[in-house]
Amino acid sequence: MAVTETVRFTGAAVKAFGGSIRANSRGIRARRLARNGAAITAYDPLDPSTAAHPHDAYRQLHEGSRVQYNPKRAVWILSRLDDVRRALRDASADGPARVRVRAPILVSTDGEKHAKLRRQAMPAFTKAALESWRLTIDQLAAETVRDVLENPGCDVVQRLAVPVPVRLIAQLLGIPDTDVADFRRWSEAATQLTGVALTAEGARKFTQMLRGSWAMHQYFRRQFALGGLKGSGTICGRLLAENEAGSLSDSELFQFAMLLLLAGNETTTNLLGGLFATLADHPEQFEMVRSDTGLIPMAIEEGLRYLSPAQNVHRTAARDYQVGDVTIPAGERVLLSIGAANRDPRVFDQPDEFRVNRNPTQHIAFGFGVHLCIGAQLTRMEAQAVLREFVTQASGISAVGDTRWSTNSLLRGPTCLRVRLTPA
Ligand code: HEM
Repeated sequence: MAVTETVRFTGAAVKAFGGSIRANSRGIRARRLARNGAAITAYDPLDPSTAAHPHDAYRQLHEGSRVQYNPKRAVWILSRLDDVRRALRDASADGPARVRVRAPILVSTDGEKHAKLRRQAMPAFTKAALESWRLTIDQLAAETVRDVLENPGCDVVQRLAVPVPVRLIAQLLGIPDTDVADFRRWSEAATQLTGVALTAEGARKFTQMLRGSWAMHQYFRRQFALGGLKGSGTICGRLLAENEAGSLSDSELFQFAMLLLLAGNETTTNLLGGLFATLADHPEQFEMVRSDTGLIPMAIEEGLRYLSPAQNVHRTAARDYQVGDVTIPAGERVLLSIGAANRDPRVFDQPDEFRVNRNPTQHIAFGFGVHLCIGAQLTRMEAQAVLREFVTQASGISAVGDTRWSTNSLLRGPTCLRVRLTPA
C-alpha cells in the first residue's frame, strides 16, 4: 500500500526499501539524496491495488514533502499541481511511459523535431475539421446510449466506453464501414502495449500487439496506394494532402495513425466509463446536470479533473532540476502525477468531492505545455455528446454489482461496470 515517509534519504533507509538498487551505486545515490533533502516514499505507482485506487496515496503525498523519491522504482515523484505543470513545461520528454522511448514520434521528441511533427499533425485537428465530425459524434453517442438503455444490467464499458472511441477514430481515419470490425480487432490487439508484462500472458499480448500492428500497417499501405483517402475530410485525407508537399512519408503517416489509436482510445474509454461510474455514485450530481444541461461542459471538465484518465506521465531531468530545496540530478526519471495534481488541496477546494458546477479550469488532465494533448477538443466533443444523450434519454442510473478498476499505473478507468438506466 502507499505509505509516505518524510524520512531523510540515508543508507539505512535505502537498505530498508531499496533491495533492487546495486550496492556500489547505493552509497553514492544515498549521500547525494541526503544532501538534496529528498523525502523517500513507499508509494509505488506500479502496485496494482494502489493503481486501481490511488487516492489515499495521493492524500499522503500531498501531506508530505514537495519532492519524494521511491528507491524501489528509482523514480522521483512530483504531486503538487504547480510543480507538475512546471515540470511538464521544462523537462525532456522521452515518452510519457516509465520506460524511455527513443522513437522519433510526437510524444518522445523535444524542440524543433517535436514542433515539426506537431505542425504536420495539426491540419487534422483544426476547428473546422472538428466541426465536420460533430454529426458523426452525435449519432454515435445517441446510438450507444440507446443501446445501454435497452440492455439493463449490461457492462457499459464493453457496450459504450470501448466502442465509441474506436468507432470514431476509425471513421476519422477514413476506414470504410465494411472494414471497421477488422480495424477494431487489430486496434484492440495493437494497443495492448500498456498491459504488456514480463509474463507468459505478457508475451502473448506482445505477440498479439505485433500481429495487430502488422495487419494495420499492411491495411494502411493498401489504402494509401489505392489513393481513395486523398481529398477526403478524414484525418488521413488531410495528412495525405500535406504529403503532396512531400513533408510526410507513408511510414510517418502510419506511425501517426498508430499514435492516435494508442493515445486516443484507452484514455477516452477511461473517461467515458469513469463518468458513468461517478454519476452512478453521485445521483444528486446527475440530477443537477439533468435539470440544467448548460452544465454539461463544466461537468465534463470536472470529470476530467476527478478521474484523470491519464494518471501519470514521466519525464527525464535534462539537467539538474531544482524543485524548492531539492535538486533532482540530471538524467533522472521523474514521475509527474497528474492524478495527484488534479486533487491538490492547495488548488481545489475539497478535491475528493465530485461537483459538476466546480469549473476546475486549472486541471491538467490533458497535460500542459508543448505536449498538451492534441485530441483534447475532440475528447471534449465526444464526452459532452455522450453526457447530453445520457441525461436526455435517462432519468437515473444505478450500478449493478461492484465496479472493477484497471490496475494500470498510467491509465486508469473502470474495466467492468454493469448499469441499469431508467428511461426518461
Ligand atoms: C480522455 C481522453 C484523453 C486524455 C486524458 C489524454 C491525455 C493526454 C496527456 C496527459 C498528454 C500529454 C502527454 C505528455 O505530456 O507526455 C496527451 C498527449 C497526446 N494525446 Fe491525448 N488524451 C486523451 C485523448 C486523446 C485523443 C482522443 C487523441 C487523438 C485522437 C489524443 C492524442 C494525443 C497525442 C497525439 C498526444 C501527444 C502530443 C504531443 O506530444 O505533442 N489524445 N494526451
